[in-house]
Amino acid sequence: MANYEKPDAWSLRAQKEGYPARSVYKLKEMDEKFHLIPGPARQGFRVLDLGAAPGSWTLYTLRKLAGTGFLAAADLSPLSRRYDQGLFEGGNFFFIQGDITAMETREALLERGPYNLVICDAAPLTTGSRAVDTLRSLELAETALGYAQAGLKKGGGLAVKVFQGGDTAGLLKRIRELFSTARAFKPAACRGESFETYYLGLGRT
Ligand SMILES: C[S@@+](CC[C@H](N)C(=O)[O-])C[C@H]1O[C@@H](n2cnc3c(N)ncnc32)[C@H](O)[C@@H]1O
Repeated sequence: MANYEKPDAWSLRAQKEGYPARSVYKLKEMDEKFHLIPGPARQGFRVLDLGAAPGSWTLYTLRKLAGTGFLAAADLSPLSRRYDQGLFEGGNFFFIQGDITAMETREALLERGPYNLVICDAAPLTTGSRAVDTLRSLELAETALGYAQAGLKKGGGLAVKVFQGGDTAGLLKRIRELFSTARAFKPAACRGESFETYYLGLGRT
């Protein structure tokens, strides 16, 4: 068993590099491998970040967009303001504190689209029951897929976290139906024993 209380090397590196959570390295690795987020030279790139708190993916994306494009983010919890240096007050950023499965959150986010990319790192509070946790994670991933279906531009991409187990094959099949490429990817920054993985859809058809 890993000690989840003690900051590990990834968490310490994240703090040093100005991110509130180690999860930033999962997005960074996916971005480097699949070219999810372009630099500022590509104007008008719009990203939707679901399950965004404490805000590492949000900060990574805003820093990479460097004042161009737009990012909308949502979470049940507020974002940490520790490292944002004013980025969360920029005109190219919108945050809603709410449940991504709720109608009002969905409307607020979709009316700010369409998007080029949907990223979803949302995870349920774990209960200790693997079956329950897996089912809740799958529901959140299906929710993200719903946003991708309704809110992505043609050619757009999706990266979504899901706990392994349960009907992940069905999720991958539905991603395949919406995108020209669908695949699973487990970044190195996922703890060795973690049962989370990411599914990607590239090239919304
Ligand atoms: C692993 S954290 C996300 C970390 C984030 N990507 C980062 O880099 O800082 C998972 C988040 O999912 C959020 N979450 C879980 N269920 C949600 C829901 N139904 N609606 C909105 N957010 C949700 C939790 O509040 C939690 O902040």
